[in-house]
Amino acid sequence: MFHTVMTNKSTLLLLLFVLLHGVALTMAFFEGEEDWWSESPNSLFLMRKSKRVIKTDAGEMHVLKSHSGRIFGRHMHIGFITMEPKSLFVPQYLDSNLIVFIRRGEAKLGFIYDDELVERRLKTGDVYMIPAGTAFYFVNTGEGQRLHIICSIDPSTSLGLDSFQSFYIGGGANSHSVLSGFEPWILETAFNESRLEVEKVFSKELDGPIMFLGDSYAPSLQTKFPQLKKETKEQQLKKMVQHKEEDEDEEEKQTSRSWRKLLETVFGKANEKTENKDTADPPDSYNLYHDKEPDFRNAYGWSKALHGGEYPPLSEPDIGIFHVKLSAGSMMAPHMNPRASEYGIVLDGHGKLFILFPNGSIAMNSEIKKGDVFVVPRYFPFCQIASRDGPLVFFGFSTSAMKNKPQFLAGAVSLLRTLLGPELAAALGISEETLRRLVEPQHEAVILPSAWVAPPEDAGKNTVHMLPKARSFANHVLMDVF
Ligand SMILES: *[C@@H]1O[C@H](CO)[C@@H](O)[C@H](O)[C@H]1NC(C)=O
Ligand SMILES: *[C@@H]1O[C@H](CO)[C@@H](O)[C@H](O)[C@H]1NC(C)=O
Repeated sequence: MFHTVMTNKSTLLLLLFVLLHGVALTMAFFEGEEDWWSESPNSLFLMRKSKRVIKTDAGEMHVLKSHSGRIFGRHMHIGFITMEPKSLFVPQYLDSNLIVFIRRGEAKLGFIYDDELVERRLKTGDVYMIPAGTAFYFVNTGEGQRLHIICSIDPSTSLGLDSFQSFYIGGGANSHSVLSGFEPWILETAFNESRLEVEKVFSKELDGPIMFLGDSYAPSLQTKFPQLKKETKEQQLKKMVQHKEEDEDEEEKQTSRSWRKLLETVFGKANEKTENKDTADPPDSYNLYHDKEPDFRNAYGWSKALHGGEYPPLSEPDIGIFHVKLSAGSMMAPHMNPRASEYGIVLDGHGKLFILFPNGSIAMNSEIKKGDVFVVPRYFPFCQIASRDGPLVFFGFSTSAMKNKPQFLAGAVSLLRTLLGPELAAALGISEETLRRLVEPQHEAVILPSAWVAPPEDAGKNTVHMLPKARSFANHVLMDVF
């Protein structure tokens, strides 16, 4: 009897152990894979996990977190920032490299370069790279115009806490600077300022990471900085502060003085120690529309790829940029990227995206439209086709700053043409003559006319392949951006 009880107990324990272990294993599996493999294939390649990370009266930011699955290799998140006129994205630094593309509008970007505060005016089509750990801010300088920014958030340097982490120097998610976490006496010491003064600055309730700039903001004076010589810059700063102090009431005056002190402390006394330094100027922005001719163009569309060779700042985070326009009914010939995964954002129009698994089975056959974000893993064959009723325009980031050298599988310049010979013919089980007849008729390369495969005119309303979530996401979140 005693024996049996023991046996039963052990069996039960064993069972329980096996069960728990099984549960733990299953959970680990799903956590690690983030469940994506079990989702429908389309959702593998369409990024839909949108999260609103900032929302204030003055603007908002959404982030689409990429899958962490291994087939995606180095991943990146895609961010969309919208800022109202006269708003400020407060000074902060990130744990991730940030590459911004000004989708629409005008911005002033202020950032620290070589211990100096530098400003750049950015306009529609401009690309700029802000390395992880660099303090920066954005001001929407467009007159009465919303500012739309698309950015790649490259987490290769990230803390891994979330998609990315902001450290706010002014304002911020909890309406406080990251400095406000220090005890008052530390700040008193750090700033050599009375507790009253310190608290005046750091206990103020602010409007969050994107805020409106008050009337006291004097952009005309400040934006002259990049053009000024270094000696006059310091005078200018002094004049500016004086000017402010004269103009403003007592409280504002105190705040601005404290702010200047704070900025000097955090950013370094920029203008004093630069004279005997022979440092290079910070890189200029790069405009995708004005600085770059298409790398490829024919009657059916064009494509541009910006790599580190042309724009060195991209080499540091090792990220490339591409921009493609397919005219109505055209097709990007089936190709694959031997070096990088692609994160694409549809800027205009609609069409289809086909992606194949390595074994040649179809991984995705989906409508894509304005606002959709898709990812194509390295090596995976794919092609995009514009609908017949208008061009399909997309922009994106690739996970390599090297020249991408896409390999085309079909078209006048393609692997099948290059490999044409008895070996390929034998491998396909056809005669060389048959193979030749197969590949020769296509005279166009890269972007091909393909009206016959284009989706019908009402493709935008066709919901057969369209994922409802992707649609509602696009409508809900991104309509405004595009
Ligand atoms: C702090 O400020 C006082 C006057 O306001 C000045 O005399 C003193 O040298 C300052 N100390 C430091 C460490 O800057
Ligand atoms: C091809 O690979 C994918 C992904 O690994 C798999 O889901 C699919 O079943 C495979 N197809 C064939 C025909 O083996």
